Amino acid sequence: MKVSDNHGEESGWSQPGTFETAFLGPAEWDATFISAADEKADSSRGIRLRREFHLEKGIVSARVYATALGLYELTLNGAPVGNAVLTPGWTSYRKRLLYQTYDVTGMLAAGPNAVGATLAPGWYKGDLGWVGQRNLYGSSTALLFLLVVTYSDVRTHRVASDTEWKTAQGPILFSELYHGETYDAQAEEEGWDKPGFADAGWKPVVARRRDVGALTAQDGPLVDRQELLPARSLFVTPRGERVVDFGQNIAGRVRFHVQGAAGQKVVLRHAEVLDAAGNFYTANLRSARARVEYVLKGNGVETFEPHFTFHGFRYVMIEEHPGNPDRSDFTAVVLHSRMEPSGTFECSNPLLNSLHHNILWSWKGNAVDVPTDCPQRDERMGWTGDAQVFIRTACFLTRSATFYRKWLRDLAADQRPDGGVPFVVPDILADIAKRDSMMRDTHSSSGWGDAAVICPWTIYEEYGDRRMLSDQYPSMKAWVDYIRVRAQDGLIWSSGFHFGDWVALDAKEGSYFGATPSDLVATAFYARSARLVGQAAQALGRPGEAEEYLRLSDRIVEAFRAEFFTPSGRLAARTQTAHVLALAFDLVPDQHRTRCVETLLTLLSENGGHLTTGFLGTPFICRALSDNGRLADAYALLLKEDFPSWLYQVKHGATTIWEHWDGIKPDGTMWSEKMNSFNHYAYGAVGEWLHRVAAGLDCDPREPGWKRLVMRPGPGGGITWAQASHETPYGRASIAWKLDAGRMTVDVLVPHNATARIVLPHASVGNIEAQGAEMTECEDGAEALVGSGRRVFSWPFDKTRVMRYLS
Ligand code: BGC
Repeated sequence: MKVSDNHGEESGWSQPGTFETAFLGPAEWDATFISAADEKADSSRGIRLRREFHLEKGIVSARVYATALGLYELTLNGAPVGNAVLTPGWTSYRKRLLYQTYDVTGMLAAGPNAVGATLAPGWYKGDLGWVGQRNLYGSSTALLFLLVVTYSDVRTHRVASDTEWKTAQGPILFSELYHGETYDAQAEEEGWDKPGFADAGWKPVVARRRDVGALTAQDGPLVDRQELLPARSLFVTPRGERVVDFGQNIAGRVRFHVQGAAGQKVVLRHAEVLDAAGNFYTANLRSARARVEYVLKGNGVETFEPHFTFHGFRYVMIEEHPGNPDRSDFTAVVLHSRMEPSGTFECSNPLLNSLHHNILWSWKGNAVDVPTDCPQRDERMGWTGDAQVFIRTACFLTRSATFYRKWLRDLAADQRPDGGVPFVVPDILADIAKRDSMMRDTHSSSGWGDAAVICPWTIYEEYGDRRMLSDQYPSMKAWVDYIRVRAQDGLIWSSGFHFGDWVALDAKEGSYFGATPSDLVATAFYARSARLVGQAAQALGRPGEAEEYLRLSDRIVEAFRAEFFTPSGRLAARTQTAHVLALAFDLVPDQHRTRCVETLLTLLSENGGHLTTGFLGTPFICRALSDNGRLADAYALLLKEDFPSWLYQVKHGATTIWEHWDGIKPDGTMWSEKMNSFNHYAYGAVGEWLHRVAAGLDCDPREPGWKRLVMRPGPGGGITWAQASHETPYGRASIAWKLDAGRMTVDVLVPHNATARIVLPHASVGNIEAQGAEMTECEDGAEALVGSGRRVFSWPFDKTRVMRYLS
């Protein structure tokens, strides 16, 4: 490939790229699932499998295709295959079981070779959910493996999982995602995965009959070790516990070095926070034991990192150790799905920078193969509502399209025939509901089911990929149709179970359900989803359906106004979230907009300027203010430092976003043991506001995929400078603004083949210094439409005249 520009300049040729196709269908899988014969349903042991094979000279390429029921690790001739972990990840296994492809050409040689595999329960058969269930997909782990070697004379040689393999119980005595791992290094068998190993004591495997129709090539990023964090300190708590602090709450596990005698142990426990007295605190993990036990073999320095588990933690308690551990013996291994960073944000306020850091780390902690609610307790599920509220922010942080594509395919696969959407994807709640009386239903809550529509649409807006939109379109439409047949006159959705404005502070004592009426919330989301389906139909060239759903959305909006607004413009529900959703989803009659904004401000000031919003109102509250000429009020809210506020957590040492505004109360006590995650990204959905509004780097939704940008600095809240960058599909875009000596300076970079609308607040055509841009007056100040390249604008910015921006 080469590129040329409009001045006739040409680049050189790029390096050639390559691609190869996956299997074209299940028929190509001439391999069978194999297991150990005696694996019990309640066993959490790791299982080993091995096979030797002979290859001839002249190997030109070799590929391994593999997957498992459970989790697997593979080695060839003793060396690990690939560097992904927790493969094959979590999908709706009965409908979609992903297989991974590895180029192993350099790992094989003519002569004898050996393949080794280890299996563990994982999501497939291990404990899953908060009512102690297991074996949700099956009670026995199994491997599916196919090695295809191509020789220089184009002959191929295949090595498959078949009954020639042998199995033994390896050193992993126990491994569960929630509970941790027990590993007895004394049970290691040197050379078990190399040729020539004496495996006479190993048993034959059994073949499992299983339909391979669900097999699908890996269609999202794999999870791997993304970062290694050194321990910050090792200290003793008042209770006498030896604790390592990694300084950052993460999803991952610990790698450590240890020396001691055979049979001695290292036992580690994991926690997110310390309690008020500074002791190790694990009550919020509920039944997740998050415990790692390593039994030493006793021959010098031994290094261990668990294989098939992960924890949400910042602190590690050393419960048992053969010597005097040093903090340098411990490293935290950060795990999450591979995604390239896509955006940065920084400003002159260090607390906001910490908030942004915490949002990013909650994203990392909840992107372990599926978008989860939390990574620490006995939950870690693909809650649809959480995913929906955070997805836009996620796209500002990392290139997230394929991560969500994989999950959205599971959402569609698990969607009910009537269009209903499970609360969690992959859907495992049906069984839990039978045992948990609080679970009145398992699917189709407003604000949660809307993930079916909001997520694909957001990905389309961010990446401009029409293919993904068209793949998800039937699922999007089915969700709206599900509501349509249940709503009163097809318009007001007042039936069914809804989480509503979950964990809002205006909930009744002891309840998680916020005070905003659920018919209002449900109808607001219904209007929004119907509109997005209409827009999707438009984008996909389906004019008839576009008209149908846009019209439906208009009618829902009319019905919403008739039902929830009085003729003089009072919104029936006097809650912050009701006003926020009405403003954010364009449900307010034009003539009542000012009143609605004013009432929201009154509601805030009645609460000392603090928010009371939960999962559904919080993501939009700053936007509802700033989009309605109240930027200074949005900043005032965002910059609150006392409870409840985003910065309250920051000031209390949070390194990720909390599930509750008062996860740790001002007196240091905990909100509750039952549901208190310190790594829950929902309230971090304000992240997009920092990029789009505070820094002022946004894309114009009318031209998806950042084809057209909107750059509008958002000075306020005493901030003197802010900057953001974004890796758009066209290349890097950035903005940096600063206020200095009575002038505002804005430096923008617009990528190739994109245009940008630059809006400069309080500038006027007469007083602006602008390079190569034709400025015109606009409501906010001055604006220009520019093409690619870097430009700097500067103009006098009179603080006294524009106080509303700066307070
Ligand atoms: C999860 C949430 C989820 C909610 C449903 C919780 O247990 O952690 O984040 O959305 O249940 O209301």
